[in-house]
Amino acid sequence: MPRIKIEGGHKLSGTISISGAKNSAVALIPAAILCDEEVTLNNVPNISDVDALESILIHLNADVRRTGESISVNCKNVINNKITEDMSVKLRASYYFMGALLSKFKSVDMYFPGGCSIGSRPINLHLDGFKKLGATVIEEGNHFIIKADTLKGNEINLDFPSVGATINLILAASKADGETIINNAAHEPEIVNVADLLNKMGAHIEGAGTSRIVISGVKYLHSAEEKVIPDRIEAGTYLIIGALLGKNLVINNLNSNHIMSLINKLEESGIPMGIKNNSILVNTIDNKKALNIKTEVFPGFVTDLQQPMAAYLTQCNGISTIHETIYENRFQNLPELAKLGAKYEIKDNNRKAVIYGKTMLHGNEVIATDLRGGASVLIAALVASGTTYIDDIHHILRGYEGIIDKLRNVGAKIEIVE
Ligand code: UD1
Repeated sequence: MPRIKIEGGHKLSGTISISGAKNSAVALIPAAILCDEEVTLNNVPNISDVDALESILIHLNADVRRTGESISVNCKNVINNKITEDMSVKLRASYYFMGALLSKFKSVDMYFPGGCSIGSRPINLHLDGFKKLGATVIEEGNHFIIKADTLKGNEINLDFPSVGATINLILAASKADGETIINNAAHEPEIVNVADLLNKMGAHIEGAGTSRIVISGVKYLHSAEEKVIPDRIEAGTYLIIGALLGKNLVINNLNSNHIMSLINKLEESGIPMGIKNNSILVNTIDNKKALNIKTEVFPGFVTDLQQPMAAYLTQCNGISTIHETIYENRFQNLPELAKLGAKYEIKDNNRKAVIYGKTMLHGNEVIATDLRGGASVLIAALVASGTTYIDDIHHILRGYEGIIDKLRNVGAKIEIVE
């Protein structure tokens, strides 16, 4: 099996360019199902999650063309085939086929989505929302059949501002009869990206990026083109790497406004950064201050950067804490970091981690437990003395386009070996 081999301890200089956002691309692609004309997306990252969505679209008889960073999808001849369990569990975002196929065919037959094991990750808010729009849900184990005679707009109050549920309900409501209001909607930038595409296709969606989204259903959606926003989690991951190893490292093609909570924390830790709208110059320092991090919904500190940040905190002087409020099980990376020398404790029923710094890190054999957990051990390995081998790297490759080349180009000693 392929593994990542890293010889740590090298300073990084030059420029890393950020790709399109995974979590936007994986929602924009299924959104193309809502019309019978060509939808073109640009700045699409070349990652295996996108490959998995492409396979599902082809299984549904969509016409898909991928050239470089663009993907064109025409769903005129789409057939409402059952999405098999194998396909559904390949990624979390397969759940967007629920909203999209429900909108197009008033029925969908698929399985519980996959994604990283970082907690129970129910989809009750998605299903309750579909029911509010008039659908019935037949649930047998992990198999779901969702059907509606017609979809009718309604007022939906989300118990939690779920990113996935907000986007799925926008998909289902865009062509429903009448007006849908989503209260306590998630604010994440990916939601705005999806609403922008759908509005270009002729939808009437207002308030994306706020807690109250109003969707006036339309009968017909048409061809459109949209650019995937920069990946804020990828940008944040490289910014953290820069804070540890940067010597005039520039992270380019990002949107600084999307990662302000991380920028604020790194500044609090003493890291000097030159911040522009679409690029950040970052340098490491010797004495990094310990931090207290609490994950929150946007614009708070994003849970997906909590695991990469844990690697950073091992290099801060003093005791740092991470309070994970979104997921019940997002510290699997810590035992792996410990293999490299990190010292930590987990408290409060797996919701809080205490990291004791600064510890010297040294190379070892570790595994990528999940996507961002994989990024966490990779960051620690870049800092560690000696050589580290990372296994189960498919998790990392699911979400970071060209990570090996991007890091090699700025001076890291990193390669994939068999
Ligand atoms: C999305 C992102 C993921 C990120 C997360 C939070 C994608 C493909 N994935 O995941 O990278 O970590 O947002 O920023 O975009 N919940 C329920 N019931 C539901 C839905 C969610 O209880 O029906 C809970 C979840 O268990 C979790 C919390 O709400 O505790 C957040 O989930 P949600 O915002 O829905 O995240 P995802 O869409 O799964």
